[in-house]
Amino acid sequence: MTSPSPPDPAPVLDLLEAFRRSQAMFAALDLGAFDRLAAGPAALPELARDLGADPDALGRLLDACVALRLLRRDGPRYANAPPADAYLTSRSPLRLTGYARYSGAVLWQLWAHLADAAREGTHRWKQAFGLEGPIFDHFFKSDADRREFLMGMHGLGQISSPAVAAAFDLSHFRRLADLGGATGHLAVAACRRYPHLRAVVLDLPGVLPLARELVASSGVADRVELVAGDFFVDPLPEADLFVLGRILHDWAEDKVRRLLRSVYQRLPAGGALLVAEKLLDDDRAGPSLAVFQSLNMLVCTEGKERTLAEYEALLREAGFGRVQGRRTDAPLDAVLAVKE
Ligand SMILES: C[S@@+](CC[C@H](N)C(=O)[O-])C[C@H]1O[C@@H](n2cnc3c(N)ncnc32)[C@H](O)[C@@H]1O
Repeated sequence: MTSPSPPDPAPVLDLLEAFRRSQAMFAALDLGAFDRLAAGPAALPELARDLGADPDALGRLLDACVALRLLRRDGPRYANAPPADAYLTSRSPLRLTGYARYSGAVLWQLWAHLADAAREGTHRWKQAFGLEGPIFDHFFKSDADRREFLMGMHGLGQISSPAVAAAFDLSHFRRLADLGGATGHLAVAACRRYPHLRAVVLDLPGVLPLARELVASSGVADRVELVAGDFFVDPLPEADLFVLGRILHDWAEDKVRRLLRSVYQRLPAGGALLVAEKLLDDDRAGPSLAVFQSLNMLVCTEGKERTLAEYEALLREAGFGRVQGRRTDAPLDAVLAVKE
């Protein structure tokens, strides 16, 4: 009798290697390889000299990046492939370098303690970095950390905000308030799409200098106001459309309830709240981006990702009447809740 053949090991083998692929990208970014190659293709000896790296080791790293399709090699010369040029170089308007650096330097260390996070159900800032206190204090330990984190949010926002602003017809709203709106990318995308819309972006004081810089060159700066404030403490701005983009997934349930309640109370009848988050499928087993973002929230925040039904329950409890969800092709989906 022949024994049954063993199951395909491919999923396990792939996951044994998966972190190596991410680390190769983080290391090449950290060494400055993509920025150096943005200036033009170059051969290994020249690159090793310019990047201050060991030639043999750098060659292996760059070849790994070729395998990852981040780089190309024509004969002896390496060059950036289009995704690296667009998303991994520090002068590109589409850059995700901030979030990539933050992932490599910070999230990587928090994820190293995922099993402990699952045991205890809490984030890992103290275990990985010895840090206690409110979560956003850790994101913003220094000006450089703050800028990196915000440029990361900005890069992802450039991809998702146009889709979120287009997910519903928002043309009848007059004044949008984006709470925790960071660099203003959603406010800018909405103002570009709706010519009569004005927007106010509220965020912590340290965020405003970079937000000012980026909004100034957006082409809609005359319609976007930037305000320093704490959405848990300060009176909310006047608006008929509030936005919470990647905010509800940061906080514990009691704070989420408090925030939704204050938004509801501040809105006029007919006003609405637009929530931008990645929605989990009803069975919570997908999509992959949402499932892994929820684990990411476990290691670095108090919050989690939710299904549309879970958001709807929270929004109705806060008082909202009509609640609709729309999936987009972008990294964030949209939920619109109307105060009737
Ligand atoms: C995960 S980021 C999301 C940023 C932006 N909405 C987006 O989708 O890219 C969370 C934002 O909330 C801001 N934030 C955190 N706590 C806040 C508070 N108490 N009041 C106002 N903003 C806050 C942070 O500064 C940060 O910009």
